Amino acid sequence: MSTNSIDSLQHEGPRFAPSPEFTANAIASGQLYEQAQADRLGFWATQAKALHWHRDFTQVLDWSDAPFAKWFADGELNVAYNCLDRHVLAGNGERIAIHWEGEPGDSRSISYAELTAEVKQAANLLTKLGVSSGDTVAIYLPNVPEALISMLAVARIGAIHSVVFGGFSAESLRQRIDDAQAKLVITADGGWRKGKVSPLKPAVDGALALNKETPSSVEHVLVVKRGENEVEWVEGRDLWWHEQIATVDSEHEAQGFEAEHPLFILYTSGTTGKPKGILHTSGGYLTQAAFTHRSVFDLHPETDVYWCTADVGWITGHTYAVYGPLANGATSVIYEGTPDAPHAGRWWEIIQKYGVSLFYTAPTAIRTFMKLGRQIPDGFDLSSLRVLGSVGEPINPEAWIWYRDVIGAGTAPVVDTWWQTETGAMMISALPGVTTLKPGSAQVALPGISIEVLDEQGEPVAAGGGGLLVVAEPWPSMLRGIWGDPERFKETYWSKFGTKYFAGDGARLDEDGDIWLLGRVDDVMNVSGHRLSTAEIESALVSHPMVAESAVVGAADEVTGQAVVAFVILRAEHAGTLPDEEASSALRKHVAEQIGAIARPRQIFIVGELPKTRSGKIMRRLLQDVAEGREIGDTTTLADADVMKFITEALPGGAGASA
Ligand code: WT7
Repeated sequence: MSTNSIDSLQHEGPRFAPSPEFTANAIASGQLYEQAQADRLGFWATQAKALHWHRDFTQVLDWSDAPFAKWFADGELNVAYNCLDRHVLAGNGERIAIHWEGEPGDSRSISYAELTAEVKQAANLLTKLGVSSGDTVAIYLPNVPEALISMLAVARIGAIHSVVFGGFSAESLRQRIDDAQAKLVITADGGWRKGKVSPLKPAVDGALALNKETPSSVEHVLVVKRGENEVEWVEGRDLWWHEQIATVDSEHEAQGFEAEHPLFILYTSGTTGKPKGILHTSGGYLTQAAFTHRSVFDLHPETDVYWCTADVGWITGHTYAVYGPLANGATSVIYEGTPDAPHAGRWWEIIQKYGVSLFYTAPTAIRTFMKLGRQIPDGFDLSSLRVLGSVGEPINPEAWIWYRDVIGAGTAPVVDTWWQTETGAMMISALPGVTTLKPGSAQVALPGISIEVLDEQGEPVAAGGGGLLVVAEPWPSMLRGIWGDPERFKETYWSKFGTKYFAGDGARLDEDGDIWLLGRVDDVMNVSGHRLSTAEIESALVSHPMVAESAVVGAADEVTGQAVVAFVILRAEHAGTLPDEEASSALRKHVAEQIGAIARPRQIFIVGELPKTRSGKIMRRLLQDVAEGREIGDTTTLADADVMKFITEALPGGAGASA
């Protein structure tokens, strides 16, 4: 997004104040900002007290060992108890926790009482399999109830889950299993995606068969039957979920764990080839997950039906499909499949079927639906919707307006929520009963959150200025570290501005103090709201025997926000042996096998050279110009000024052509 378009929108763009009716019934009021302003820690203590504590806390924040924070450190709680038993004991056992919808159209509605019973049983099963407090469990499942049940069961016994998105490859899964030393993998025979069963168990088998010289830490593989397809079986290691669960008791008493007890690890891409295991703990995480979920979505748990479309394999799924809504006793929809299966109106059909009132999705999905046209959602009754959320990347004002008009009947507020895997929960967002909405801007820090936009020297930018987004004070759901790598944690987030957290995003403050996110400032791409690292894809490419060198950039893409575009130099013995299209299609496939289908490059250009500075650093900016079909920018710092000419001349059909 260019500076000009932002400026013009600031001055001319539409504004939407909350309706008086909405404000009158809103869960969150403007007083929250005042309370948090007057006493930030007291504010968070109040939010934390909305949870059930097995042992009350007396301390709120301990920042003496910065950047390693402790929140509510002397308190004890059980995360699963807060999401389950507590609601049953309060008399809400009959309330539906999850309306689960399978892609083929099978469905299951699970009450809080039923979910509690299933999680208790699963907790007993984990214990039977030798998993105990502090052990790690890898979860590699489709979006089925067992994914949530597994996460909650792991949490209930104080073990640590590492959910790996089902779209990741065997190699990626193994890397994550090894890094966290997982004892158990929970997977399925397959899950439904786009009308077919996509197998998962073979990837687990493949992952565990890799690096034979160093056997994996995994003792058992627990397999959920979902896809009804053939699976290979390793006797002694592999176990069917349904057979095992029948052997254990359904009673289980939840014990309290310290507030700083680890809850989960979730891997995300950074600027190097190795993903970072982001560590989250219990009390602070659940406090902010629950508070933001009820305030930002205006959750009325007795009447609302909430749907977050994210897969549980991403942080959005963790915080806003599992922990936030369940901690709040909400009724949620969980959908297994893709938006277009078996027809392009599938999502709208689900909203109509369950009367979804609060809906949370990503801009890439909205842009896809915009392209398909409003006749599709117009064919369904969406009148139940009353709050619409967006997350993952900046939502362009056109998509924002379409979302409000077409999906929200021209009345539903759209809340654009900025946060990250590392922040654990939302940090910047409007409050729908309070804020006058401004399409395209994520707007203001949530109550209790302190956001600044700083220049390179660490000075706040003036209104109208652009800079780097930082979180100036610790927050309850902040990451507590990178698994096994405290140095990388300090270096990545805390070396630039001391005890202020460096988020890696560029941002602009407008005249009203509203924040406009401008994308990553490091070598990280955002494809369909998912973070991918240029270095990780480059290292996957050079692991192919044909490749000598590679450079990857994120190029603007109308639907996915950014798309992966790679420039590859082949090894001398391979250059010219295959037509370029064949080489590039083999390499695209290789990246998908190494990392996962989400990382598969949209285009690969086979080139003779890459643009480098005199010190040997690849100038991605210039490659981005090529990938986006623009005129090449300033080349004066190149070691060889002619390189860009060679690259563009050699491309099929010139810059921007499809590979
Ligand atoms: C990065 C975090 C948070 C869950 C999904 C992604 C970008 C996220 C927004 C937004 C502009 C956004 C940022 C951020 N991002 N939400 N509302 N507006 N940008 O989680 O994979 O950890 O990625 O996504 O660049 O740093 P993630």
